[in-house]
Amino acid sequence: MIPSISRIRSYAQRISLKWQESSGAKEDLEHARAAWAGIMEKYKNDVGVVDFTRILGDYPMLGDEHVKNCRMFSSRENLILEMKKGSHVAEVGVQKGTFSQYILENNLPAKLHLFDLDFRTFKIAEYFAEQIKAGQVILHEGNSSTELAKLPDRYFDFIYIDGDHSYTGVQRDIAAAKTRIKEDGYLIFNDYTFWSPAECIPYGVVQAVNELCLKEGWKLEYFALGWFMYCDVAVRKSRSIIP
Ligand SMILES: C[S@@+](CC[C@H](N)C(=O)[O-])C[C@H]1O[C@@H](n2cnc3c(N)ncnc32)[C@H](O)[C@@H]1O
Repeated sequence: MIPSISRIRSYAQRISLKWQESSGAKEDLEHARAAWAGIMEKYKNDVGVVDFTRILGDYPMLGDEHVKNCRMFSSRENLILEMKKGSHVAEVGVQKGTFSQYILENNLPAKLHLFDLDFRTFKIAEYFAEQIKAGQVILHEGNSSTELAKLPDRYFDFIYIDGDHSYTGVQRDIAAAKTRIKEDGYLIFNDYTFWSPAECIPYGVVQAVNELCLKEGWKLEYFALGWFMYCDVAVRKSRSIIP
C-alpha cells in the first residue's frame, strides 16, 4: 500500500530538517534508516523485522543438490580467471567498460560481444576502437534480451549478465542467454542479491536464478564474493552432475 501524500510530506519535512542539522554521511544514513523504519512499520512481523515476503513475494530456495559442487572465489576477477581462454564471451551491461576491459586482458577472448542500452554516454566505441577494428569486440546496442536472441544458439562459452537487475529483466536475459551458450557453457550473474543497498531498490537476480536451477536443473558451480556483497554466481546445466 502506498503511504498517503501527507504522511510522505511529513516524513520528508522531518528528514529535511534533520538533514540540514546533520554533520555527515553516517548521520544522513541514520536519518534515512529512521524514515524507512517508520514507513515500513506496518510490514513488520511479530519480532519487529520487516517481512519482505509481504512486499516482494516469496521465492524458491535452492537445495543442497544445487550447490554441492559449488566453489568459492574471493572476487569476480578471480572467477573470470577460471573461464576457458580464447573463447566466445558476452557481457550484458557494460556501463563504462571497466569489466569488459578486465575480461579482454585476462580471458583473452576470441570474440567479446558487448550489450548495453546505450554505448554513447561512456564512449564505448571510442574506448574499444582498436579491438572493434580488429573484430575482437562487437557492440550490440539495445535491449539485451532482444539483441542476444539475434545471435546463434550454442555460440558462447560464457555470458556475464549485469544489465537489468529486475526480476523480469533477469528472466528475459536468461530466456535469451540459456540457448546461446554452448552445452557446457556458463551463465554468470553479477549482483546475486535481493536488495541493492547503494540504490535502495530490490533486485530480482536471486529469484530468477533460483527458478532456473529448480525448474530446469541448472547448478551453482561458482560463487564469488563481491564489493558490499554484490556477489556473483556462475551456473551451468550440463556436466553439473551430482554423484
Ligand atoms: C551495473 S552496469 C554494468 C557494469 C559492468 N558490467 C561492470 O561490471 O563494469 C549496468 C548496465 O546495464 C545496462 N542495462 C540496463 N538494462 C539493460 C537492458 N535491458 N539491456 C541492455 N543493457 C541494459 C545499463 O545501461 C548499464 O550500463
